[in-house]
Amino acid sequence: MHAPKNGFFYIIDRKDGKLLSAEPFAKVTWATGIDMETGRPIEAEGARYLTEPVTIWPSVFGAHSWHAMSYNPGTGLVYIPKMELATHWDDTKIDLNSWKKPSFQIDVGAEVGLGNDIPKDAGVSSLMAWDPVKRKAVWEIPQPNYWNAGTLTTAGNLVFQGRIDGKFAAYDARDGKELWSVNVGSGISAPPITYAVDGTQYVSLLVGFGGAAVAYGGGSSMAQYGWGYRGQLRQLLTFAVGADKPIPEVGEPTFVRVLNPPEFQLDDTLADRGEHVYKASCAWCHGAGAVSGGYTPDLRASEAFLDLDQLKTIVQDGALQNNGMPNFKNLSDGDLEALRHFVRKKAMEAQTPSH
Ligand code: HEC
Repeated sequence: MHAPKNGFFYIIDRKDGKLLSAEPFAKVTWATGIDMETGRPIEAEGARYLTEPVTIWPSVFGAHSWHAMSYNPGTGLVYIPKMELATHWDDTKIDLNSWKKPSFQIDVGAEVGLGNDIPKDAGVSSLMAWDPVKRKAVWEIPQPNYWNAGTLTTAGNLVFQGRIDGKFAAYDARDGKELWSVNVGSGISAPPITYAVDGTQYVSLLVGFGGAAVAYGGGSSMAQYGWGYRGQLRQLLTFAVGADKPIPEVGEPTFVRVLNPPEFQLDDTLADRGEHVYKASCAWCHGAGAVSGGYTPDLRASEAFLDLDQLKTIVQDGALQNNGMPNFKNLSDGDLEALRHFVRKKAMEAQTPSH
């Protein structure tokens, strides 16, 4: 049983690899179904955006990503952290005759919107119990945002799942009723595990927030919870029925303070050039629209961006390379100056009431 990014729930016979079923478990617009003879998708018209831009469900993050789903042989159900989000694909401004695959950059030859912030309500998600035999959802609990953690189900008919907002909860595996929850003080990405020692059953959870949607996506969608860079208290928490210790101290959200030096003179043309550099080289760690999801420092709040020399030391000379900030020898002083204007522009937008 496989619920991949593409939005179809596949059941494949493990003896001979024959495809038994493939039903959509989320909103899917790129294909109308799967051909049961060939196993190939039946592509929807326009899905390859050959003539005009198109918005496609699921998004680049998938209808279900790497967050573990789980199967309970008792209930016969599969518990999927399901995501509903779209990606807008637009290559109308890209000259595909001269476009080349870049090295160590993410550039798919289409605009996927990384120049702009990803708003707080960009996507939704749910914890979904899917019946693989009847090929349909049995129950579904809405979850905040679109990036929630993997699931664990137990023989005692529980489903555990952590959430982006720091809530860790247990549900009845049969009907999805919430039975227990705790605030662990940081976003959760990992699935819990369970094990028994001397007759006591434990559930352990790694608390900490990350993953592709936080790095490559980022934006206000991820930043809104305050799991900022170096602000997170990452921990391993273990629970047991009847345990009498209080939860250890948990983390607190921390929010970015965007810098806005009044003397900065914004040049829109330079900011536009900076946006291209940003999307090709920086967005996939520092977040869409220069709004960090917490995986890296938010550049709108970085002192380094107030001073070109300091920026050169970090970006061209690799001063922070040991901490995971790559060096970009290929970027010119002009590129960095353009980046400065782009980042200041985004900082100013963050201060205007409409944002
Ligand atoms: C592979 C991921 C990655 C990419 C791509 C990346 N960065 Fe970073 N960047 C980081 C990390 C991680 C840090 C934090 C390093 C530390 O803790 O000292 C950082 C820190 C920085 C800082 C210091 C911020 C501060 O005030 O503490 C600046 C400036 C910066 N990056 C600029 C850029 C620019 C400009 C680009 C694009 C040209 C870029 N980065 C691309 C990962 C990345």
